[in-house]
Amino acid sequence: MNEQKRPVIIAGNWKMNKTRAEAEALAKAICQAAEGQRDLPAVVLAPPFTSLPAVVSVCSGSQVKVGAQNMDHRDAGAYTGEVAPPMLVDLGISYVIIGHSERRQYFGESNATVNLKLKAALQHHLIPIVCVGETLDERENGLTDAVVSRQTAAALADLERSQLDTLIIAYEPVWAIGTGKVCEAFEANRVCKLIRVTIANLYKDKELAQSVPVLYGGSVKASNIDEQLACSDIDGSLVGGASLNANEFISLIKSGQKRISLQAAESCS
Ligand code: PGA
Repeated sequence: MNEQKRPVIIAGNWKMNKTRAEAEALAKAICQAAEGQRDLPAVVLAPPFTSLPAVVSVCSGSQVKVGAQNMDHRDAGAYTGEVAPPMLVDLGISYVIIGHSERRQYFGESNATVNLKLKAALQHHLIPIVCVGETLDERENGLTDAVVSRQTAAALADLERSQLDTLIIAYEPVWAIGTGKVCEAFEANRVCKLIRVTIANLYKDKELAQSVPVLYGGSVKASNIDEQLACSDIDGSLVGGASLNANEFISLIKSGQKRISLQAAESCS
């Protein structure tokens, strides 16, 4: 279990799902479940752009935060269909997912665009959740570590140590996303640790690497989250499918809560 007092984070990526009314209902159920709870993990809901204002309004005054699933790196201009960081800030958004594998796979995002978006998010004080992870082909060819380290280093290119205070990284093996094939907790933990080693090597700073929360994502559900959260280098979950159902997502939040309470109990003993 995480001994570094890093925050525990449970984030739901709703992808291209939910109308505004459905999004409001789901956010309401989650906020109600979170109300008055102690030891709550950081809970982040990332609905589609069209539902962001409604979900921000439902979550205002609650412990639940709202994130966007993507953004452009530029502040404004003739970029049809894009959404700029200041627009998210203006809505009261606090988090943004960057470089999700579906963005890389279907929308041509590269390590270079991920780096630009990460810089823009930090500049606008949005908390970035940067996704890295290997494809099945890369894993089968023994390239997992090389790919994950390269994506991590490329995302962080030209960033100063002082800019990384709010960075969150999510290890999401592409072959585990939406497939029901979860990465074994032991292996997910190993790769999450490798991400920290990569950061430590880049900045020659082990303490910095220990302070960065690293999440696991890929077919996370109530039946497998506890073993992931019991691992020393996994600080939470980025959840797709299981975040679309209120009861399922609330049970993931409860798992995060359980881990925080256990951690508190251990540090007292
Ligand atoms: P999944 O998606 O939980 O449906 O596998 C995870 C993600 O894409 O972040």
